[in-house]
Amino acid sequence: MNTHPYVVVANRLPCERAADAWRASPGGVVTALTPVTEHSRGAWVGWAGGETAEEPRTHHGMPLIPVALGSAEIDAYYEGFANATLWPLYHTNVSTPQFRRSWWEAYVAVNRRFAEVTAEVCAPDATVWIHDYHLQLVPRLLRELRPDVRIGFFSHIPFPSVDLFAQLPWRTEILEGILGADVIGFQRRRDVRNFEAACAALLGPASTASATVIDAYPVSVDVGHIRDIAGSGQAQAEATRIRADLGEPETLLLGIDRLDHTKGILERLLALEELFDNGTLDPRTTRMVQVAVPSRERIPAYRQLREDIERTVGRINGKFAGLAGTTIHYLHRDYAFESVIAWYLAADVLLATSMRDGMNLVAKEYVTARAGRGGALVLSEFAGAADELTDALIVNPHDREAMVQAIAEAVAMDAGAARARIDAMAEVVADHDVYAWANRFTGDLAEVAAEDPADAAVAAAPAPSAASPAAAAAPAQWMI
Ligand code: G6P
Repeated sequence: MNTHPYVVVANRLPCERAADAWRASPGGVVTALTPVTEHSRGAWVGWAGGETAEEPRTHHGMPLIPVALGSAEIDAYYEGFANATLWPLYHTNVSTPQFRRSWWEAYVAVNRRFAEVTAEVCAPDATVWIHDYHLQLVPRLLRELRPDVRIGFFSHIPFPSVDLFAQLPWRTEILEGILGADVIGFQRRRDVRNFEAACAALLGPASTASATVIDAYPVSVDVGHIRDIAGSGQAQAEATRIRADLGEPETLLLGIDRLDHTKGILERLLALEELFDNGTLDPRTTRMVQVAVPSRERIPAYRQLREDIERTVGRINGKFAGLAGTTIHYLHRDYAFESVIAWYLAADVLLATSMRDGMNLVAKEYVTARAGRGGALVLSEFAGAADELTDALIVNPHDREAMVQAIAEAVAMDAGAARARIDAMAEVVADHDVYAWANRFTGDLAEVAAEDPADAAVAAAPAPSAASPAAAAAPAQWMI
């Protein structure tokens, strides 16, 4: 079984079983990791999203190694500790985190299972890259089982300030778990600072010495793939059809998010309502499309949020929609990536106004698809993307007045200025695409190997730029 030189470990596999078919799993981790893992033909350890124990299989050439979860574990580990404890706590208490010992026990047990499955499948001296808040204990557990492998850990979501993090009853275990990795990555510098401050305060000042690298690695998108789709006749025709179906609005505003408190959908709708109320936006010529991808629907806080959003959409449409059309089009469903790109091409303004977000890949996708085409991006200062996309209209989503102003400014922006800003941002993203992200992280893991003489041969292997066509056709090993 110990055959894979490069292994990605994430809670979710890149595709999940839906009825009798397999479909792409939702969310930023899968979006970012799928292209880089596919190109390197790494193996992927994760959960298939249901209660059925799945057999190993391959997906676009990637070996998938399923980790089975029972129904009680889905409740306690995934919906409980991961998404009702850690998720809100790490996103600055965007909803109230709940602390339950039974959830923690399930989290420990499931993390142990992930570590055991991974330890079984990785080749001697393999490189293992563990992802996100579901699996923070795996680096240390895996190191105990397989001291020979190099271990990276990347957190796709924010790391909270020590004042918040310290509320977690199992805070030291979590920190010690992460510190089992050789390279520890976060999205932003401020996440790195928060993590280091938590380690210093809760474990002592020398606690971070064991990890070779702790750094910010802002995740990104597959620029080439997005450009190909955006340049296709099919996507452009779909965009034209979308605008026609919406009655050829003068302005089309767009939001595309998982239906989650962190995304600030409700706050965005309330800002729009104010703009219609005060006459800045004309409901007869303006359309807003909010795609809300269903997410974590068995968790009560998510069900409540859905009700609140749907009531608000109904109220706003009741006030402003006319016989000629609906003002806010709320689409509670998932779309294929090609259609998402068509939405980007159709929209004059993207509202990416999360209350808190590790990165917000939607913002990076939008500016990439819009390169040379103009458009405006309203972006939350609490999204990781705000560090790089500085030509966006950056806004505090908690500040209604600022939101109202930023949206009004985006709608009224001069076309030439808008194009220059989008192009500048598209260039930033193109210079730091998802392959550059993965290469930098795995390059730092290779450096770890270089410091260990026994691993020097592995480290000496070339590190091609995965963005280049040569790397796209790279052999069956990770980029190092
Ligand atoms: C975020 C998280 C991912 C998660 C995704 C979808 O992007 O960082 O780890 O997979 O949301 O959420 P779900 O609970 O459906 O996996």
